[in-house]
Amino acid sequence: MAVILDGKKLRDKILEELQKKVSKFEVKPSLAVILAGENPASQIYVNNKQKMAERIGITSQIIRFPQNVSEAELLDKIEELNNDKSVNAILVQLPLPEQISKDKVINKINPAKDVDGFTPYNFGKLFSGETPNVYPCTPKGILLLLDEYKIDLSGKHAVVIGRSNIVGRPVAQMLLDRNATVTMCHSYTKNLSQITKTADIIISAVGKNIIKGEMLKSGCVVVDVGIFKDETGKTRGDVDFESSSKIASYISPVPGGVGPMTITSLMLNTVELFEKSL
Ligand code: GUN
Repeated sequence: MAVILDGKKLRDKILEELQKKVSKFEVKPSLAVILAGENPASQIYVNNKQKMAERIGITSQIIRFPQNVSEAELLDKIEELNNDKSVNAILVQLPLPEQISKDKVINKINPAKDVDGFTPYNFGKLFSGETPNVYPCTPKGILLLLDEYKIDLSGKHAVVIGRSNIVGRPVAQMLLDRNATVTMCHSYTKNLSQITKTADIIISAVGKNIIKGEMLKSGCVVVDVGIFKDETGKTRGDVDFESSSKIASYISPVPGGVGPMTITSLMLNTVELFEKSL
């Protein structure tokens, strides 16, 4: 039976330390979250981010816009936040309504306040092997979790499934920087299970239940980034936990694995940007 990669336990440990650190600051770090539209998952994520910020002592605000918001309105708001000295971290919750160019909006964020590390400046730094202002939250959380359980990445075959800018691409780069041999898989990949069977580490960020125990090499490490509700309303990940946990040596559960680590990274990144701004 695999060891559980417990994201809640590590979140509580890291955030306790962070809370102590923030309590010593005279001026508090400040996070602004832009939420456009009514995506139900986004509403939950954003509220959780605010609750966590409050717990840590980070000042936070959610700026809500209706589904039919114009691109110009969002760009103006980002401009205002870029110039607001009391705000040190800006997050634009994705996905954005379809009339909005995600790229234009992200590009507008001052890279020094880009708490997701999504601007071309920070992404460019990451992909050229330099150090960005901050690392994207979910990939950073995944590496913190692997490090906590002393999972060595050097020389290991890491298979990343999913090529989004939020998870797949940046986590692949970060694994490469840790000297893993990285294979990227996606919806056009043929013979996925042939590839996963050679993986020492699997990071799955697809949002569909695609990984079964029979696709795994004995003793591998499985990180499940997917989270969605199945037909019965149950929260599920990309990985069939029951069959996979019998084959893997370590496995992250859903919920309670990567999710809490993403929010932990957001809090860490907010404080890192604050300290850089001093
Ligand atoms: N939507 C889903 N994950 C994320 C994330 O990490 N950052 C932002 N901004 N939006 C998201």
